[in-house]
Amino acid sequence: MKAIIPVAGVGSRLRPHTFSHPKVLLNVAGKPIIGHIMDELIAAGIDEAIVIVGYLGDMVEEWLKKHYGIKFTFVQQPERLGLAHAIWMCRPYVDENEPLLIILGDTIFDVDLNPVMQSTVSTLGVREVEDPRRFGVAVTEGGRIARLVEKPDTPVSNLAIVGLYFLRQAGPLYSSIEHLINHEIKTKGEYQLTDALQLMIEGGEEFSTFPVNGWYDCGKPETLLSTNEILLRRAAPAKPYPGCVINEPVYIAATARLENAIIGPNTTIGENAVIKDAIARDSIIGNSARVAHIMLHGSIVGNNASISGNPHEINIGDYSEIRIG
Ligand code: UTP
Repeated sequence: MKAIIPVAGVGSRLRPHTFSHPKVLLNVAGKPIIGHIMDELIAAGIDEAIVIVGYLGDMVEEWLKKHYGIKFTFVQQPERLGLAHAIWMCRPYVDENEPLLIILGDTIFDVDLNPVMQSTVSTLGVREVEDPRRFGVAVTEGGRIARLVEKPDTPVSNLAIVGLYFLRQAGPLYSSIEHLINHEIKTKGEYQLTDALQLMIEGGEEFSTFPVNGWYDCGKPETLLSTNEILLRRAAPAKPYPGCVINEPVYIAATARLENAIIGPNTTIGENAVIKDAIARDSIIGNSARVAHIMLHGSIVGNNASISGNPHEINIGDYSEIRIG
């Protein structure tokens, strides 16, 4: 089965990291975000992916082709006009009678996709959230979706649509998106996939939901770090580094160099990074980054970035109290 993976967005909430890297190539727990997603998809039997690229798309294309042997089609979305528009861009590559799996390129999930892909009705991955105003939500009745609402101002349901969609047939989805585009129907300035799916429901298409308990957002610095923390719990223990203290869970690339360092917990250290006389916890340190004489926590250090503090030489007397900022 084919999967459609939209990754054309600019990832503005993850600047400055996304100035030089597409969001989906940011490292979380030792692998780019999209690497975690691809591994799940391939394990579920996906053998073809249509990837919608835009901002820094060449880098995504190169990375995917280098690391995965499945068939890829890369489709350009020249203007970011919304998710429905992104899906519209790949219409020439989709047979309207075939089923489709759509997964957002910035959402790592942990769910058994096999029953989902065998579903006889279209079905959307959902999860209960406390504040549904940031999400598209599903209002259900008797196990079926009665209505979908994109980012509701007043709470109508706390079942958020998490970014995993299974469509029994591509045709009706494309008819709905065509209607949105022809009539310029946008919500919050974009052609929304939620609105296209709502049109399908109004046209009589049946939708069910499936629970996605493992849903790890990577869209903002704080969620990237919390996803890093959760995924590291599954990582193999690091090898010992003489003269260093490793507080698991961590991921330390084999080519990283540690000298007199304390690493972890919840920390990823990228390829060829050098950590010297420093402490890094709850952090992601990029490839070839250099960290010295400093204590970092809750930090994201980009690739090739360098940060160092000053080791202090002090001579203070009894009962002194000094705080160094
Ligand atoms: P987001 O709304 O998170 O957008 O899109 P973004 O650009 O990645 O991040 P911010 O909001 O600027 O920080 C969710 C997913 O849908 C894709 C994005 O690439 C991301 O994987 N998308 C969104 C598209 O491919 N095209 C669009 O027009 C909109």
